[in-house]
Amino acid sequence: MIRLAILGSTGSIGESALEVVRRHPDRFRVTALSANRRIAALAAQVREFSPAVAVIADDGVGGVPDSGGATHWARGRSALVELAGRDDVDVVVNALVGAAGLGPTLLALETGKRLALANKESLVAGGSLVLAAARRGGGELIPVDSEHSAILQCMRGSGARDVARLILTASGGPFRGWSREELWDVQPSQALRHPTWDMGSKITIDSATLANKALEVIEGHFLFGIEYERIEAVVHPQSIVHSFVEFVDGSLLAQVGDPNMELPILYALTYPGRAEDGALRTFDPVASSPLTFEKVDHGAFPLYGLGTGAGARGGLAPAAFNAANEVAVEAFLGEKIRFPEMAEVVARALETAPATEPGGVKEVFEADREARRVAREVSEQLQREGSSRKG
Ligand SMILES: NC(=O)c1ccc[n+]([C@@H]2O[C@H](COP(=O)([O-])OP(=O)(O)OC[C@H]3O[C@@H](n4cnc5c(N)ncnc54)[C@H](OP(=O)(O)O)[C@@H]3O)[C@@H](O)[C@H]2O)c1
Repeated sequence: MIRLAILGSTGSIGESALEVVRRHPDRFRVTALSANRRIAALAAQVREFSPAVAVIADDGVGGVPDSGGATHWARGRSALVELAGRDDVDVVVNALVGAAGLGPTLLALETGKRLALANKESLVAGGSLVLAAARRGGGELIPVDSEHSAILQCMRGSGARDVARLILTASGGPFRGWSREELWDVQPSQALRHPTWDMGSKITIDSATLANKALEVIEGHFLFGIEYERIEAVVHPQSIVHSFVEFVDGSLLAQVGDPNMELPILYALTYPGRAEDGALRTFDPVASSPLTFEKVDHGAFPLYGLGTGAGARGGLAPAAFNAANEVAVEAFLGEKIRFPEMAEVVARALETAPATEPGGVKEVFEADREARRVAREVSEQLQREGSSRKG
């Protein structure tokens, strides 16, 4: 029986992970669950799965149920991080959103756990530190992102030296084919309507701007040890091919299937083996035809280039990119800035980002804080300019 801590269990990935557990009660048991603020949703999960512990991360919200019964309730950021290091957990599913996931990512790997990582932001922000934690603690880092799960599956038995190129596929989001001018009037409700994937709001906006693909290029660099020059993205609107690996002999492998996160989650939990799962066998090649591919439009979606550029710069630049992007997404969702202004916010925050390698997690958090400060300042300035233009 594999004992799971599912961090961010009330989110889109968290719910999908619990669905996988429901279908495989003989393989997986839930030991720990967490939410940020949605206590009622977490309480319902606790009633169904009876974990040893449930954590509400945000200590600003009231009404946490009394501990009692089988489950101990705790609250706060440090209680959340501690879940990742528990002795009664074999696999930590990090389904948190944003750089808030870095602490649990590091602790899971330091304490020798398997980390099924959906929270790409922690690897982007803490890259070299995350890999060092895995080396020190013997933890195992297995991606949940469908693109990286595809690459992992294609690379079985091969090393970085066998690879010529990684080609990540991107759906292109709801505004594929739109010009920069057309994007000016986009509303959050339009950007939240993803054509192929049903996901949390932050990653849905990142998919619409292609910032998500930049985060994934950086994630791919750290996961597979491939240089940035050998990682590309291609727009594939059907989201059927989850990524390609081209090998040095010219052979090209892809992993293919309907867009459904339950498969990469199940694979991360059973890797290197596989579990039979009839519910997921629904792919129909004829019905899925045709499959098409397009170039990334750098002019309309500059966050892709900003992010991959930050990755190539290295050091603390990816942490700054990630933090500024989180602020920009929040400002756009709060209708403070326009869709194309998200790139402007991030570009300005990156100007001052240090490219030095972080000596420790403290420096990552400092770079994160500083990028957020600049990004907030720029957002407020753009908001004031926008209001005066309207006025
Ligand atoms: N959704 C997908 O299909 C998909 C695919 C690939 C990768 N990913 C990655 O997976 C991660 C999760 O995405 P998602 O779409 O599942 O997000 P989501 O639906 O927004 O869920 C996020 C989860 O984290 C909790 N949370 C949010 N902010 C937190 C904070 N500051 N501290 C502690 N907990 C916090 C939320 O709690 P509340 O419910 O209480 O707010 C919720 O349980 C992201 O890194 C995303 O890029 C997602």
